[in-house]
Amino acid sequence: MTPINRVLKEKNTTINPIWIMRQAGRYLPEFRDIRKLNTDFIKLCLNTKLAKEITLQPLKRFDLDAAIIFSDILMLPYALNQKVEFKKNFGPILGELDLDDILNVNEDEFVQKIYPVYDAINMVSNDNLTKNKSTIGFVGAPWTLLVYMLNKQSPKLGLKKDFFEDKSLIKKLLIIIEKFLKIHIKNQINNGADVIQIFDSWAGLLEKKDLSEYIYDPTLSLVNFVKSLNIPVICFPREIKNYKEFCEIVKPDAINIDYNTNPKIIVNNIKIPVQGGLDPKILLTDKEILKKEATKYLDIFKDHPYIFNLGHGVLPETDPNMFDYLVKTVKNY
Ligand code: CP3
Repeated sequence: MTPINRVLKEKNTTINPIWIMRQAGRYLPEFRDIRKLNTDFIKLCLNTKLAKEITLQPLKRFDLDAAIIFSDILMLPYALNQKVEFKKNFGPILGELDLDDILNVNEDEFVQKIYPVYDAINMVSNDNLTKNKSTIGFVGAPWTLLVYMLNKQSPKLGLKKDFFEDKSLIKKLLIIIEKFLKIHIKNQINNGADVIQIFDSWAGLLEKKDLSEYIYDPTLSLVNFVKSLNIPVICFPREIKNYKEFCEIVKPDAINIDYNTNPKIIVNNIKIPVQGGLDPKILLTDKEILKKEATKYLDIFKDHPYIFNLGHGVLPETDPNMFDYLVKTVKNY
């Protein structure tokens, strides 16, 4: 069993496996070299050979315990025929949403648009570099995908005013999203993903009264689906106010915490394995601070099943030497 699966399935507390969100990305010069020549991000994700190469780049440099496939949560709306573009220094921009068009997409057409991702997972999971390491497949949570598909861009400055106006559209969309997320998860697992992570990056935008409808119910359905395939599932409901309640209702195999969450309160209140937490900005300081802050998380979760990770993705301006130092600090703990 891989170290990550020993924590997830056996609740092992003697090892501290590590992988990092966005470990395949812009902080690595070898990624930027490929990206420069491939300006269309979606096309790059659909280039099996390059997606595999990018996924394995961090594993060539660092002693990480998992590969996470180079893809994006927005491949789902793309495969449902909504236009998705990535604008430099702005983020994703999505096109018009045509419900009739989306309702007409069937499973075969969806897979036809996205299968290079599954081929890349297959190649990565069979590569020598992932021996005794996990291959992590992932999806966006229904709520976060709904946000992008309706808001058409990151809701950094809040959701558009009319976001909740068309309740019937929202209900129909959530059903479609959930259906295709299950197809997407199943295909990633069939091609070698041995862990699934569900990213709910905008969970923090919702008020308590809306959590059941938009987060708990649809995420629970996905979590149960992954469990039925005998694969462990990690949830990351970023900035959700009550992680404990989330865990009690949704019951994932592990919970990823964000960097604004107090790890001491988590360790005292949450029974399931925990992942992540360290503020990615700490990697922009110096080695002394980095060691102190990383050790803080390792100390707090000393007797708790814990997978080391950050509280959000590694920042593009991170020095790979600091990343290396972090991995070594965790491995030598
Ligand atoms: O290494 C990995 O973690 C695997 C690959 C991965 C990417 N995106 C590649 C990527 C994963 C797991 C994601 C998830 C993702 N994508 C999330 C959830 C996690 C989070 O960050 O909250 C979200 C919200 C997205 C949507 C998305 N994709 C945004 C908002 C952006 C633009 C912001 C940015 O960082 O530029 C992306 C682009 C993206 N996805 C990049 C990468 C490596 C950067 C692309 C580039 O090279 O310009």
